[in-house]
Amino acid sequence: MKEKENSTAVLEARQLTKSYDTAAGEVRAVDRVDLRIEKGDFLALMGPSGSGKTTLLSMLGALEPPTEGQVMLRDREIGKMTERELAQLRRFDIGFVFQSFYLVDHLTAQENVRFPLGFNKDYSPDEKEQRASELLRMVGLEDRSDHFPRQLSGGEKQRVAIARALANSPAVVLADEPTGNLDQESGDSVMEAFEDLHQRLGQTVVMVTHDPLVAQRARRVVRLKSGRVVEDQEQTG
Ligand SMILES: Nc1ncnc2c1ncn2[C@@H]1O[C@H](COP(=O)(O)OP(=O)(O)O)[C@@H](O)[C@H]1O
Ligand SMILES: [Mg+2]
Repeated sequence: MKEKENSTAVLEARQLTKSYDTAAGEVRAVDRVDLRIEKGDFLALMGPSGSGKTTLLSMLGALEPPTEGQVMLRDREIGKMTERELAQLRRFDIGFVFQSFYLVDHLTAQENVRFPLGFNKDYSPDEKEQRASELLRMVGLEDRSDHFPRQLSGGEKQRVAIARALANSPAVVLADEPTGNLDQESGDSVMEAFEDLHQRLGQTVVMVTHDPLVAQRARRVVRLKSGRVVEDQEQTG
């Protein structure tokens, strides 16, 4: 435990809170959450509908500002960053995977994966194409490169979205119910892709899920209830 306290978290929530003013009064979607995400974590975020999972993930990924508390990326406070720095962070440090894929319809699988590399000066055009192909291979879709989203199954679309999220080698991948719209078999192929990149690349992943089978495969399970962390458990095996 001591070692853990001394190491730098990749992402850390400190007393993170999000309140909404509604007709029925104040709703605390996320309520003073402390959470350290270590490099190499594979964390399943669980909890009933409305418990604050999406809100927490949105704040961790700098998509929404907290009402109170802080998010630290490595040791930098997200709340103190300029808009420009935040844009950089969303592009290069955090990879998002959403339930409904959000692929660009008129771009092929290969072009969708390459898209976030458009901003990356580390790669030449050729290297961008190579990198996109490599990522598609990693999620088992090398033979779907030239397919458009409408020509792909749900599971394949989500694996393209995973490859896209990895394009700029983010410190953390945040996934909000990535198997939520998929049948069992497609969901399994998506989970395998996540597991593979966690094992092979040591990719840090935070995944919201309702699926107990998915959570079983995660290394750590955090449960939310009414915006509070009620359980944080490491799993072996
Ligand atoms: N923009 C909003 N305005 C008011 N209440 C909201 C808003 N977004 C979320 N909430 C409320 O915050 C709580 C947590 O929502 P959410 O984070 O979406 O939960 P989950 O992802 O666990 O289902 C819910 O009670 C929800 O109704
Ligand atoms: Mg949600």
